Amino acid sequence: MEEPRRMCGIVGYVGQKQAEPELIDGLRRLEYRGYDSAGLAVISENRLEIRKRAGRLSELTEFLRQHPVKGTIGISHTRWATHGPATHKNAHPHLGGKTGRPMVAIVHNGVIENYAVLRRQLQDDGIVFQSDTDSEVIAQLIAYHLKGDLVDAVRKALALIKGTYGLAIISPDHPHLLIGARLGSPLVLGIGDGENYLASDPTALIGKTEKVVYIQDHQLCILTADSWQVLDQNQSEVEASVHSLDWDVGDTDKGAFEHYMLKEIYEQPEALENAMRGRLVDADASALFGGLNLDPQQLRRAERLILTGCGTSYHAALVGEYLFEEFARMPVEVEYASEFRYRNPPIERTTIVMAITQSGETADTLAALRESKRKGHPTLALCNVVGSSVARESDGGVYLRAGPEIGVASTKAFTSQVMVLAMLALYFGRMRHLSALQGAQMIRELRRMPDVLRQTLHCHDAVRELAEKYYQANNFLYLGRQYLFPVALEGALKLKEISYIHAEGYPAAEMKHGPIALVDANTPSVFLMPRSAVFDKVMSNLEEIKARGGPTIAIACEGDEEVATIADDVIYVPEVPDYLQPLVVILPLQLLAYHIALKRGCDVDKPRNLAKSVTVE
Ligand code: AGP
Repeated sequence: MEEPRRMCGIVGYVGQKQAEPELIDGLRRLEYRGYDSAGLAVISENRLEIRKRAGRLSELTEFLRQHPVKGTIGISHTRWATHGPATHKNAHPHLGGKTGRPMVAIVHNGVIENYAVLRRQLQDDGIVFQSDTDSEVIAQLIAYHLKGDLVDAVRKALALIKGTYGLAIISPDHPHLLIGARLGSPLVLGIGDGENYLASDPTALIGKTEKVVYIQDHQLCILTADSWQVLDQNQSEVEASVHSLDWDVGDTDKGAFEHYMLKEIYEQPEALENAMRGRLVDADASALFGGLNLDPQQLRRAERLILTGCGTSYHAALVGEYLFEEFARMPVEVEYASEFRYRNPPIERTTIVMAITQSGETADTLAALRESKRKGHPTLALCNVVGSSVARESDGGVYLRAGPEIGVASTKAFTSQVMVLAMLALYFGRMRHLSALQGAQMIRELRRMPDVLRQTLHCHDAVRELAEKYYQANNFLYLGRQYLFPVALEGALKLKEISYIHAEGYPAAEMKHGPIALVDANTPSVFLMPRSAVFDKVMSNLEEIKARGGPTIAIACEGDEEVATIADDVIYVPEVPDYLQPLVVILPLQLLAYHIALKRGCDVDKPRNLAKSVTVE
């Protein structure tokens, strides 16, 4: 059966050390990309040694304990599939050439659209396939064309392929060569001393090397232990720029925390400090960004902004809409990237399109960005991963500087995105209507936020108790207004994705137009209601739920005793201005999702059916 789509982790190694531990180390860092199966191929005494297992990486490491492999060059893979069985035979690596003495091993991230035709042609030539995958066609094609020159065979095979790929390739006939190729799926080369790496994601290379080259579409790279080379479509060598990777190993360890998600929740105060560092300018009462790459005229002329992203990044964009409208007085539209890429709305040339993405590799967001560029719009990116596809392809942008986010449920990326959007709103505002006094006031408030978040985290114990009380509920409502409506959506998304509980985020007042029918004694409603201009209105909504017997949980401002007399449970957070409430209120919601998931025995960092970055459509 077809096994068409995947978003996988790839690691390749060539050097003096044993490849197996290097590959497994890298895969551990990438397991969050997919965890349906894992495998590796190592060249050992001029033969390919393959080890693969369906299931988590731990299945493979256990198997390797009993059946270790020796060799100093190898490739490896961890897989995520949207459909098609996660079986042993479909796990990567895939082999090309005669059964018994394969000539080529590949690992692949992407989709080969014309694989059925190619497979039939190869089968007509007597080639026997071992798996149901589209990827195997690549291995068989390379083997078919391999007449001495591996690079040439790779090139000939790729010329026949339609689709997307990030590839790592080895052949026992060329036991010192590791080849990488990219079209549409990320690939990065890591430069070491007497050793070189390939990976689908720079996270796999942290602690191995600080020097990386981001491979571009249609490029090939050729690695030996002592050399590396990047070639373009015409086989000409490319002068590739070497970037530095400034994340360290500590960033990818769980440290004292039981899960990455919890560690990343606790990293949020520091992430906000990093996002602000050097970007707030008292003298101008404004913000300053090094990489916007649009001239002041272009920025000033912009009459509209379109913010686009997926999932949590989309929710941050919704907060951005309120921020830009309030502080920059600019019309803003927020679009799901997956919808925007196929719409063709009339948009003035002066509209700036801003792509918001933690990974910078989300296929829909990248496609929305490319479509906007095609139509001549200035594009900006808000990305966390340095050198990612969205970061490279946009005209300019701002890095979040949140450090690696490993937990599949996005936490610190959300608060960092909101912080960067607030600073951008200040920047655009100061170019337009915002007074120096208002700008200075905003800077003061933004600078307080890391400490405010530290203080907010003191709600942890109270949230844990709340989780004890409600973890058996099968439905939740999250209700908020204005700046807190996107936070209601984000709180519901967190609960859904890690605890598998159905949750809906809704504008609090809109709830009576339908969702109120869901309310019963087993459906808790979480009201986001720190003091704000709409506090009284939200309080009325809470009363409406109470009147219908629904349990009510309020996230309220410290010292708000009135709320405590009405809601069944209250979690207190520090008081901040309305526009900064998303940064504060999301913390207890992240913690609530975390503790409910733990109580329900869910795998918090690797929730079922999900992958950290969705690099397919
Ligand atoms: C968030 O918790 C999710 N796992 C998911 O919605 C994520 O935010 C989305 O896939 C977008 O990812 P990006 O920010 O890397 O583009």
